[in-house]
Amino acid sequence: MKKRTLLHEGKAKKVYLTEDNDLVIQEFKDDATAFNNKKKGTIADKGVVNNAVSCKLFGLLEAHGVKTHLVEKLSGRDMLCRRLDIIKVEVVVRNIAAGSLVKRYGFTEGTVLENPIVEFYLKNDDLDDPLMNESHAVALGVASYEELAVLKERAEAINIVLREFFAQRKLKLVDFKLEFGRHHGEILLGDEISPDTCRFWDLETNEKMDKDRFRFDLGGVEDAYSEVQRRVLD
Ligand code: TMP
Ligand code: ASP
Repeated sequence: MKKRTLLHEGKAKKVYLTEDNDLVIQEFKDDATAFNNKKKGTIADKGVVNNAVSCKLFGLLEAHGVKTHLVEKLSGRDMLCRRLDIIKVEVVVRNIAAGSLVKRYGFTEGTVLENPIVEFYLKNDDLDDPLMNESHAVALGVASYEELAVLKERAEAINIVLREFFAQRKLKLVDFKLEFGRHHGEILLGDEISPDTCRFWDLETNEKMDKDRFRFDLGGVEDAYSEVQRRVLD
């Protein structure tokens, strides 16, 4: 399958049309942004890591009955995907308090949440992806109540599979972001699951092994990404 016209360029990926109208190729870039583009840089080989990690995790989820957009990994940076009508909702699942949960609500970082928290954000860079509830999403016309219920249920099911998978690899799955899309009347998991879109802490040392190293200039960004890749692919 070959790339045709560029359909969309995001901050971390490009999406190309293919000769099959139902399929697209997602190309992972090394470009990194944080805080909605306020911080910019590159992380060497990030695209290769994120593609490999995402393909492995989508395959794992498929094996657990979660439908995803993955068709196959084409090359280092390219993933063949089912073409989605992306739902403009970012679904965040949290197992441990970190990031904006700490900032917004005053949780102490590292507090284990008895029940995972699921949040919806509006996918709109111009508005800085604001937190929203179901009523906002429906009023904005981005999803129906039924679809939002499906997103929450899927996100919780995905969390159970991923948490266990990462625990076996000595990583705590602190939180992560998912995106879904519509495809011939079905809702599929889309986008990526990678150190860009998850927080991973080492199970023993609590060392941060994800994009927070880039966001907060902690150093060792590339090493953290390749260590996550090693543990995921092992
Ligand atoms: P947050 O604590 O900054 O709200 O982030 C929660 C999780 O979502 C974290 O694992 C990083 C991920 N995330 C993205 O993938 N993209 C984003 O634009 C944001 C804000 C967070
Ligand atoms: N992905 C977002 C950005 O590009 C935010 C983040 O990951 O921190 O700015």
